[in-house]
Amino acid sequence: MLVRILGSAAGGGFPQWNCNCAGCQSTRAGDRNASGRTQSSLAVRADDGSWFLVNASPDVRQQLEGLRDGKPLSVRSSPIAGILLSDGEIDHTAGLMILRESDEPLQIYGTNAVRQGLTGGFSLLRVLKDYCGVNWVDIEPGSKVSLSNNLTNSLNNNDNSGLNVNGLEVEVFSLPSKPPKYMRSTSTVEGDWVVGFTFRDSGSVVTYAPALSELSDSILERFDNSDCILVDGTCWQDNELLALGTSTRTARAMGHLPLSGESGSLTLLSKLSCKRKIFTHINNTNPILIANSPERQIVEKAGMEVAYDGLTIEL
Ligand code: MLT
Ligand code: MN
Ligand code: ZN
Repeated sequence: MLVRILGSAAGGGFPQWNCNCAGCQSTRAGDRNASGRTQSSLAVRADDGSWFLVNASPDVRQQLEGLRDGKPLSVRSSPIAGILLSDGEIDHTAGLMILRESDEPLQIYGTNAVRQGLTGGFSLLRVLKDYCGVNWVDIEPGSKVSLSNNLTNSLNNNDNSGLNVNGLEVEVFSLPSKPPKYMRSTSTVEGDWVVGFTFRDSGSVVTYAPALSELSDSILERFDNSDCILVDGTCWQDNELLALGTSTRTARAMGHLPLSGESGSLTLLSKLSCKRKIFTHINNTNPILIANSPERQIVEKAGMEVAYDGLTIEL
């Protein structure tokens, strides 16, 4: 399996347009220890299969350029066979609008709650209907979706797409959920607003959870049974944004377990025996983004990695 981190920053990116925190200032100043990062997204494929996009960030146009390889087969072709959404947050969905030029309906996998969000509070799906259209596939915790089967079906209708059939399966798992801000005032939709994904091909298992508010035993066990985990690295400290005066909410209140502290994610994750353990969806205020910071040393000493844009993981 191949996984490519397309965007390793949380919503806002690094630097964020209206932020002057120490990290954002360093990256603007060209500090080589503070590489810029685009917003949260990754791509996954089986060894000889087609790429699937996991979350569509507002930076998707430049991110997809990184997936182009080989000679194009026709004047128009998509580098991705479908899009999986782990939640309906704006940093994970606004990029769908950028994909409206698609020649074919976008193949999107998401929960029923997320579909309602993208129909109501943030009506992307209504708008896309009048552009490329959408084939929405409802997924829910416990669903196992063979991405190759869906691809085979779409290939039958489209002989010149240039996409290969692959053997990639995704299992959807439940995570503690909160609706996006845009749904909180107008809707009481309960449901799976946030899920995680476990990808499997013939040889490997990769688990992705960019919004993790707690580490239950069952999630830790799932992680431990994976070759590679890609995990929420939003904030170093619970009160990071409060201390800077940039938010009134703690990381936990935003649905993101901080890394540091006794009950932080680093302590628990460092005990797992996966081959690769990688933090991604990292907020611009998190000092682990700075390559020579003490916090980065702590993460690396604990056997974990900090994602960067373009990081390709081959398993
Ligand atoms: C999150 O990850 O919690 C969201 O992206 C925050 C937001 O954009 O409001
Ligand atoms: Mn986010
Ligand atoms: Zn900042």
